[in-house]
Parts: sequence; C-alpha cells; structure tokens
Amino acid sequence: MDSTTIFCLLFSSVLFLSLFKSLASGRRKLPLPPGSLGWPYIGETFELYSQNPNVFFASKVRKFGSIFKTHILGCRCVMISSPEAVKQVLVTRAHLFKPTFPASKERILGKQAFFFHQGEYHAKLRRLVLRAFMPESIKNIVSDIESVAVESLKSWEGQLINTFQEMQKYTFNVALFSIFGKDEVLHREDLKRCYYILEKGYNSMPINLPGTRFHKSMKARKELARILADILSIRRQTKHNQPDLLGSFMGDKEGLTDEQVADNIIGLIFAARDTTASVLTWIVKYLAENPSVLQAVTEEQEAIRRDNCGEDKVLTWADTKKMPVTSRVIQETLRVASILSFTFREAVEDVEFEGYLIPKGWKVLPLFRNIHHSPDHFSWPEKFDPSRFEVAPKPNTFLPFGNGTHSCPGNELAKLEILIFIHHMTTKYRWVKSHYRWSVVGPQNGIQYGPFALPHNGLPIRLSLKR
Ligand code: HEM
Ligand SMILES: *[C@@H]1O[C@H](CO)[C@@H](O)[C@H](O)[C@H]1NC(C)=O
Repeated sequence: MDSTTIFCLLFSSVLFLSLFKSLASGRRKLPLPPGSLGWPYIGETFELYSQNPNVFFASKVRKFGSIFKTHILGCRCVMISSPEAVKQVLVTRAHLFKPTFPASKERILGKQAFFFHQGEYHAKLRRLVLRAFMPESIKNIVSDIESVAVESLKSWEGQLINTFQEMQKYTFNVALFSIFGKDEVLHREDLKRCYYILEKGYNSMPINLPGTRFHKSMKARKELARILADILSIRRQTKHNQPDLLGSFMGDKEGLTDEQVADNIIGLIFAARDTTASVLTWIVKYLAENPSVLQAVTEEQEAIRRDNCGEDKVLTWADTKKMPVTSRVIQETLRVASILSFTFREAVEDVEFEGYLIPKGWKVLPLFRNIHHSPDHFSWPEKFDPSRFEVAPKPNTFLPFGNGTHSCPGNELAKLEILIFIHHMTTKYRWVKSHYRWSVVGPQNGIQYGPFALPHNGLPIRLSLKR
C-alpha cells in the first residue's frame, strides 16, 4: 500500500465517520416546538397563575398553534392540544411518555400506587383495579350506592349546604364501599379522619420535619397503613373471596405486599373522591341554571320512579341504562367543566414529535380543556347543550377520562354513582343556589381553579323536599 492509498482510505473513512455522525445526530437538529420560555427559573408561572389558566393556554394556542413550549413551576414543558398529538402521547406512543407527579404527592399517596408506574407493575395492578370496577362487578353494588345517596340527600333537607363538601362525603362513602364492601363500616370513621389529615399535605413542600404539614400527613399515612393492615389480617382469617377491590388485590396469585395494597388503596381514594364530587357539583349548578334541561332530566327520572312504584332503594343496573337524557347531561358537564384541564407526562428519551424535538425529561401536557372548548370540535363551545351528544364525538376530541394505557379505570363507577344521585335529587327535591354567599368576593367568572375547577365557594345551595 502506498501513501496515497493510505491517505485516500483515511480521508474516506473520516468522511464516512463525519457523515455517519451527522446522520446519527440528525435527530438533535430538529427544532424545539415554538413558544417562549419566559424568565429563568420562574418561567411563565406568573403569567399562568395571574389569570384564568384557560385564557393563558388559549392565547398561547392562538399565537403558536397546537404544539408549543413553555416553562412553568421550574419545568420545561410542551403543551399539546390537537386530537392527533394527544392520541400519540396517550395511546400510540404512550411508552415514550411516562406519568409524572410532584414529589410531595408521590410520597403522601405512596410510591407504589400503580398510576405512578409504567410497564409490568402498572399493567398488573391496573388489571386488578379494572376487574373490580368493570360493569359486571359494580352491577352488584347499585343498591348499596343508592342507600348512600338517599342518606346523603336526607341529611341535606332544609339546610344551607356547601355542595362540594357534601358531595365529597358521598363520593368518599361510595369509594369506601367499592374498595372494602361491607367490611369497612367498623373502620370507616378512622379511615376518614386519617385521610382528611393526609390530603392537607398533597401540595405541601416535601419537608419531613415536626410541625410541617407534610410531616402531619406522613404521620396520618402511617396510621392509615396500620388500619389497612388490620383490615387485611381480619380478611385473611375469614378467607372470604369478596368481589370488591380489596378482594381483587388479595387474590391468591397476586402476591402483593401489605404496603403495595395500602399505597394503591390510598391512591384510589385520591383518584376517585374529589374528581367525582366536583363533577356532581357542576351538574347541580348547570341543572339549576338550565330549567329546560332540569325539566327533561326530571321527567326521565320520574318515569323510572313510576315504574318502580315510587319506592326508594330499588334502582337496578338496568334502570341506569335507561337514562339517555341524564347521561348526556353528564357528558356535557364533563366537557364544559373539564375538571381535569390537562394531565402530565414526561418524555423518557429524546422524542421526535410532529417534526419537533421533545428533549428527554421535558414534561408533556395534553390540554383536555382546550380540545373540549375548541369550536373545531364543538360548535358554540361555551354553551351548555347536552343535545350535542346525540351525535358521538370524534375520536380523541372528548377525553374526560383520558385515553390509552392510563385512562380512567373508575369511569363506569363514576357515571353510575352520578346517575343514582341525580335520580333521587331530581325526583324528590328542589334546590336553589344561595346567592347571598355565592356573590361575596369571588373571582369574576365565579370559578375556583386548582386542583380541580370548582364553582365558587363549593356552590352553597338550599335543598327542600318537593310538595
Ligand atoms: C367523574 C369522575 C372522574 C374523572 C373525570 C376521572 C378522570 C380521570 C382521567 C382523565 C384519568 C387519566 C389521567 C391521565 O391520563 O393522566 C384518570 C385516571 C385514573 N382514575 Fe379517574 N376519573 C374519575 C373518577 C374516578 C373514580 C371513581 C376512580 C376509582 C374508582 C378513578 C380512578 C382512577 C385511576 C386509578 C386512574 C389512574 C389509571 C392509570 O394510571 O392507569 N377515577 N381519571
Ligand atoms: C382513544 O384512542 C383510540 C385510538 O386512536 C380511538 O379509537 C378512541 O376513539 C379514543 N377514545 C376516545 C374516548 O376518544
């Protein structure tokens, strides 16, 4: 080999190497999505929280389109609001986007709660949860849920109540029933007391020093775990195969530790209670504000009550399938109120996404509320009009329960407990919003944000028996 050949070889291999390198790094040359990151560290947090967050998102979408970057609470993130992009993040490329929560939430709910996870552990626990909450299972607790609804409404008669707070009690009781069946009555008050302390720490700084909120929550968490361990050991002794969630977790083959069971039960109460309670609160408000809708719902429910000879506690699963008008009211409420305005994911690697780069570690936020309020998908989006759901919405334009691997396994139970509640509320009671409390120093549009959108002051109402 002469020196020219060597030179040529060297030269071509250098050329080849550099070509290869630029090919391999081609990905990194993709641009970031459009948008602004704002000030260092604080980013655009102030802009977001100084106004109605929907106005913030909507103005960004107008300026930059359906994919844009921003910077809130110390995180760089990409917000997405087209059905196609949301489908990719939640469904078709879900493995590239893992769920992500603030540290305080993870520690208070318990690190082993399945919705913090991806992969095998998530899939296994999710299967157990779905088994307990699928129609075949919850069919059996219709009359138990009905008793809880009837008792709740009775306790409101003639009172000025905070709708949201009362709905929280209802949805807590239903959640406890679906988890523990009849077993839990003994422990109900203890579980509630601990849970109320625990939840105060959800959004606190995760500093575990005596005196801090976080510390109190962690202590309540330990006590909750102890109560749950007691319930587990009692069940093991009696060895009954119960059809509730605890029974599903305790199946012989599952081999879950007590800690895993506790983390997942606390996590489930968290996912089930306030979500459903805030949807119920919005329904009460929309029914009060739309007399013709209330009329139609009441007529539908009265027809069912007549068929049941006006008796309490006789609703069946089949009855709840004969409530199309009421079901559309629930759907429209889920759309307009969009109580979960968005959710969080995190890119597990550098991801090429619709011609842009989403760098590893960046958060990705599907903006459900923007999709639900876009005139592209729902005409006159601000109008409350349940009849729009006479036609099924297009795929991935209506995602109150999310979609894909992490979509809501409790959605059937949520709809069931809402239907049962509305049945009794509309057939037996009338209610008025309490304008006196309602109008005191509130935000202009009467909506409170964080964690869920809620009517101002939890919607004080006065309820009275009809006739
Ligand atoms: C109307 C009330 C409810 C609404 C609007 C709602 C909404 C949602 C949404 C949007 C998600 C997906 C979040 C994401 O992808 O990041 C979700 C997940 C979840 N929901 Fe619900 N939910 C409701 C009631 C319930 C109930 C009653 C339960 C329990 C029985 C429940 C248990 C869960 C769980 C465990 C997850 C996590 C699933 C996973 O990561 O695989 N939810 N919910
Ligand atoms: C979830 O995504 C799948 C796949 O794109 C789609 O077929 C389905 O309709 C979506 N679900 C909803 C509720 O839009």
